[in-house]
Amino acid sequence: MAAKIISIAQAKGGVGKSTMCANLAVTFSQSDKVMMIDCDPPQNSLSAWFKVRTDLYEDTGLVLEQASTPAQLLNLIEKNKDDFSYILIDGAPHVNPVVRAMMLCSNLILVPLAPSSVEIWSFEAFEELLYKAETLNKSLKTKICWNRVRRRVKSSEEVMQSVGKHSKLTAFKNQLTFRVAYMDSFAEGCSVYEWTDPVASAEIWSLSSAIKRAVAKMEPVKISKSNAVQEFLKKG
Ligand SMILES: Nc1ncnc2c1ncn2[C@@H]1O[C@H](COP(=O)(O)OP(=O)(O)O)[C@@H](O)[C@H]1O
Ligand SMILES: [Mg+2]
Repeated sequence: MAAKIISIAQAKGGVGKSTMCANLAVTFSQSDKVMMIDCDPPQNSLSAWFKVRTDLYEDTGLVLEQASTPAQLLNLIEKNKDDFSYILIDGAPHVNPVVRAMMLCSNLILVPLAPSSVEIWSFEAFEELLYKAETLNKSLKTKICWNRVRRRVKSSEEVMQSVGKHSKLTAFKNQLTFRVAYMDSFAEGCSVYEWTDPVASAEIWSLSSAIKRAVAKMEPVKISKSNAVQEFLKKG
């Protein structure tokens, strides 16, 4: 069975891509074989997290690779897709050819977004690119995942409502709230599921289940060799 390819992408740093990728990878790996691909050199936060994890624990339950070019990414997927149930890809904080390739090879792009106006402004251009990718990759679904949500903050709720009204992208109902456990557990090579905050753990489990359901029936991606696809890959 071909792996479901799930990318975490956003044209901004600090939105929680690597944190989300690591946390989802750990929960998915409780029942399935998971490979992660870190496509964010030179930061490589996911690789740094994985290094802490491998230094501390004998069996991390996960496999990690790195890719810094579209060819490396596509080769890694081709080589491994039949051996894993899920391949999770962590992207760079800007649009580059690898991020474009992620859009063309994924079943699901997960877009972490904090409910603050500043993040929404920078998101609009990226959103256009996602729509373009959806026209080129018919097996692609794109979903917002609200992250660092602060409950009962009026401005946050207004931003989420406004995006719900104006964006063609839908968001997972399962949100991740602002919790110190996400920072602390990551620093120790863990997920929030392996940490001491039951609320954060429940959030990530519920998001994981929603993602699994969203991709369950999706067909494997076939990347077309059309001129439009080649053009899309070359830009940026
Ligand atoms: N839900 C959350 N609650 C609190 N802090 C978070 C949450 N998600 C991410 N963070 C923190 O935000 C910062 C940026 O996260 P990171 O995953 O490195 O973002 P990116 O990969 O998009 O640059 C890190 O310090 C991380 O611990
Ligand atoms: Mg990152």
